[in-house]
Amino acid sequence: MILVKTIEELGKLLKNYRSAGESIGFVPTMGALHPGHISLVSESRKNEGVTVCSIFVNPTQFNNPADFDKYPVTIEKDINVLEQAGCTVLFVPATAEMYPANDPVLHYDLGFIETILEGKYRPGHFQGVCRIVDKLLNAVKPDTLFLGRKDYQQCMVIHKMIGLQAHQTQLQVCDTVREADGLAMSSRNMRLNKEDRQTALHIIKILRSIQSNLKPGDLSPLKKVAFQHLEENGFKSDYVEIADAVTLEPVTTWDGKQPLVALAAAFLNEVRLIDNLVLTTGQNA
Ligand code: PAJ
Repeated sequence: MILVKTIEELGKLLKNYRSAGESIGFVPTMGALHPGHISLVSESRKNEGVTVCSIFVNPTQFNNPADFDKYPVTIEKDINVLEQAGCTVLFVPATAEMYPANDPVLHYDLGFIETILEGKYRPGHFQGVCRIVDKLLNAVKPDTLFLGRKDYQQCMVIHKMIGLQAHQTQLQVCDTVREADGLAMSSRNMRLNKEDRQTALHIIKILRSIQSNLKPGDLSPLKKVAFQHLEENGFKSDYVEIADAVTLEPVTTWDGKQPLVALAAAFLNEVRLIDNLVLTTGQNA
């Protein structure tokens, strides 16, 4: 694996691969890597000649400065794990490389998708995500970008940004990797104490319970029970929502056909966890 720190170095290296006819897959991350991240690297390796991974804890997407300060950094271990996973190039830029002085702040016209769920509870977050992913796509120019469904709304936002900025990149969304007991893998799980690690399971529990109790008609009781269940178990929930899986519009009355996804975000003490479950793709309706 080749480690590069500047956009210029990266550009030169990738130009060589491209001239040799290699396709390029890209996996952007903020490090503290776990098997969820590595599954994206594996998916890229299956499909592309060259796999580029980036590690950059992006300051502009943290609406809460304490969350940024406490974001886990495990760079030595990450390098090892990526090497083992067969990643070709690791890009680890310094903050000044991605955000030089007087860097213009673009505004991405994301529309409705930015006003709900994560967009509502983390103001500015998706602008920060778009800002960095836009810069990374300009630097890597990958054929395919690999993202995890764990961040369902982020995938939709980045898809929209790719269109707005006319990046020549295909988006491939990969399944959420879970611990054996169902907890979605996340770098933030490292910050949970032993008791909270167990309590965290209630999130996937309520999502699965929504799925098994789903029937056409009014969905409000299902959402309400799920939200209350989290509160009773010590969470401070931002939302439990059932939404159209394509548009992410909240669904109150289900016709039994519309594709649905259930999404939840909740704090356990200081740690904010998110998860989602696609309930129905609508294809069998
Ligand atoms: P990060 O949280 O490090 O996640 C990097 C990628 O790994 C994202 O596409 C995310 O959805 C995916 N991922 C995280 N947990 C996963 C899991 N359990 N299973 C499958 N995929 C998982 O998301 C970000 O970083 C940043 O916002 C970023 C896109 C890098 C921009 O800064």
